[in-house]
Amino acid sequence: MSETGTPSAHPADRTGRRAEANGRAGETPPLEAIGLHRTYRGVAGPELHILRGLDLALARGESVAIVGASGAGKSTLLHLLGALDRPSAGLVLVGGTDISTLNDEAAAELRNRRIGFVFQFHHLLRDFTALENVAVPALIRGDDPAGAKSRAAGLLRQVGLGGRLGHKPRELSGGERQRAAVARALVNEPLILLADEPTGDLDADTSGDVQDLLLEMKERHGVALAVVTHNRELAAKADRVLRLREGILENV
Ligand SMILES: Nc1ncnc2c1ncn2[C@@H]1O[C@H](COP(=O)(O)OP(=O)(O)OP(=O)(O)O)[C@@H](O)[C@H]1O
Ligand SMILES: [Mg+2]
Repeated sequence: MSETGTPSAHPADRTGRRAEANGRAGETPPLEAIGLHRTYRGVAGPELHILRGLDLALARGESVAIVGASGAGKSTLLHLLGALDRPSAGLVLVGGTDISTLNDEAAAELRNRRIGFVFQFHHLLRDFTALENVAVPALIRGDDPAGAKSRAAGLLRQVGLGGRLGHKPRELSGGERQRAAVARALVNEPLILLADEPTGDLDADTSGDVQDLLLEMKERHGVALAVVTHNRELAAKADRVLRLREGILENV
């Protein structure tokens, strides 16, 4: 960014530097992290400095795999990117808006509208059907129930669960539960999809299917996908692979 001329309104300018996305010049990236730090203050032990000035930018429709040793800080990073946690320093911009200082209520609203999450475990509500589970984020947003359910049904068909709309989580296979979790993550048409070990609990064949589904849905819905994984097969399918090491991301 130019240091001269009229002041830019971009909040990243406060840090004096800015990560550039691979996307078209001038297009606001769906997700940027700038100079992210996260320290954990140990109750008994020393302070842990997990993220140390990390930068990341994702373009629309881009997929990035984040790999790294256990304990490197991958989940910590994903929680910051998804407004589930706040950085000790640095910025997280979603669609150009700084989310690192939102209060709890504003963070919850942002997560509901702009961010889709898929975790290692499906986190579906056990007493609700697949259809109801997928519709929940849309109902929370305030959509009318008929519209929410019809969109949920459409997404469940896209993930191959058109014949399982009325099944409760216990009546779905492990892979089907993750498919439903992917549908739920997309129901409010988020800007970004964050996945933390989404296939970590699945056998190899099912894992491959869910990997392909994630990338297919990323493409179809034009979201930016950041996926944390220990799975080499999944990492190899992403546009870019980044390794989290010593608190920053390096190209692999
Ligand atoms: N709330 C917390 N308080 C204190 N320390 C924490 C907290 N959360 C995570 N840590 C520490 O931060 C480090 C990074 O944890 P994180 O869960 O981000 O690792 P990870 O890269 O996701 O590992 P894995 O691959 O095993 O899931 C770990 O050493 C962990 O013990
Ligand atoms: Mg983790």
